[in-house]
Amino acid sequence: MTWLLSPAKPFMLAGSSRRILTNVLTTTRSVGRRGLSNAQHFYGNKQLELYAAKEAKPMTLRQLVFFGRSINEERVIISGNYVRTELPVRIAHRLRDLQALPYIVVTQEGMDKVYEMYLSAFDRFRRFPEIKTLEDNEVFCKFVRELLDEHSTVIPNLSLGLSLASPYLAPNRLDSFMRRMLVSRISRRVLAEHHIALSKDLQARRRGNGASSDHVGIIYTALNIRKSVEKCAAYLRSRAFDVDHDMPKGANTTAAWSEIIVDGHTETTFPYIPEHLEYIIFELLKNSLRATRLTHADARTLPPIQATISAGENMVAIRISDQGGGLLLPQIKSPSDLFSFSHLRNSTRMEHSRLGALRSVSSSTKGITATVKEQLGSMSQPTTRERPDRTAPYPRIGIGLPMSNIFATYFGGSLELVSMDGYGTDVYLRLPKLGTNLEGIEV
Ligand code: COI
Repeated sequence: MTWLLSPAKPFMLAGSSRRILTNVLTTTRSVGRRGLSNAQHFYGNKQLELYAAKEAKPMTLRQLVFFGRSINEERVIISGNYVRTELPVRIAHRLRDLQALPYIVVTQEGMDKVYEMYLSAFDRFRRFPEIKTLEDNEVFCKFVRELLDEHSTVIPNLSLGLSLASPYLAPNRLDSFMRRMLVSRISRRVLAEHHIALSKDLQARRRGNGASSDHVGIIYTALNIRKSVEKCAAYLRSRAFDVDHDMPKGANTTAAWSEIIVDGHTETTFPYIPEHLEYIIFELLKNSLRATRLTHADARTLPPIQATISAGENMVAIRISDQGGGLLLPQIKSPSDLFSFSHLRNSTRMEHSRLGALRSVSSSTKGITATVKEQLGSMSQPTTRERPDRTAPYPRIGIGLPMSNIFATYFGGSLELVSMDGYGTDVYLRLPKLGTNLEGIEV
């Protein structure tokens, strides 16, 4: 942790021109303002090279908790400067990754938007002056909040671009690229959100009401899994799905949703980020509810879904079992293909309805993870506050399972889908209990 105590000096400003991939793609041979072709702007950014050559400094959940537990002015400033200097390094690595893709891939719809957003964020972070006071930190938190909001549509844009690009990229390469992009994005948002939350914790402490807090920054120190499952279940069961038009003609669309039974070690708690756990559980239960309804279209009462919790020495596990017919789909050879962004592994990626849904989410002001978060009112919002909109269906954009897999593995957990073909699906989610694993980011 010595690096946390010696924040790097800020970089001095360099050239100001923004390199926009769109220009590169449309006018590759044209000559830019400073006598460089746009392609040279795209590939030849000195600052980017400098930052991309640095190593990221991954953290463990435990380090984040220990550092933030006794937050004070000095620590919050150290934390701010860490985020200020670490995020441009992590973004630079991913910009380099984008540049290494075949040209035809980066020309796909959505990819230019992502590249542009990252290049702009990179420039703005590296120009941000060193944080020396709490007032500086307040300005920094506002700046970071704005960027977090601006980037809320990155995932649907990336997913759209890569789905369209999948005929041109081998599935392994496509999926490992996407994995690096998504893990890195989660990591940056964790660091950014955690710092903003720590700054709020400090304010609460100064007002004298931070002592009995159940969280440090965005991490709950004793997150109760059963409560998270119940929260997601209550929300999902009270809301309309876009499932009715997929039901066979004459089917009973009035049966109540499956009951969700929680059993096992139901009082298990562990330190974790509630938004990550709840994102995964929300997606898994949503899939189970939907599949059960479609499989038992004529039933008056739908079979229940079982969520079993277990607490091992190093891991906690949740198994979600449904009777939704399993994962035997003509488009899918192996359940793990459902995590793939390549149409060669999962042909639903190229379906018109899916691309259309992705396009509409990509251009909305809210990203999909933000939507789940809002729906569940995670962190400080009590469940009873939720007033579900019973009419708006969830957009089916096909990123719930791959994103759940990335969230599960980010701090060293796992997600496994087991199909009991013709009967149902068991999903095993395992998450580390002690918080000692480093973030799974790749350089
Ligand atoms: C992202 O959401 O993709 C980010 O990189 C967030 C960061 C700019 C604060």
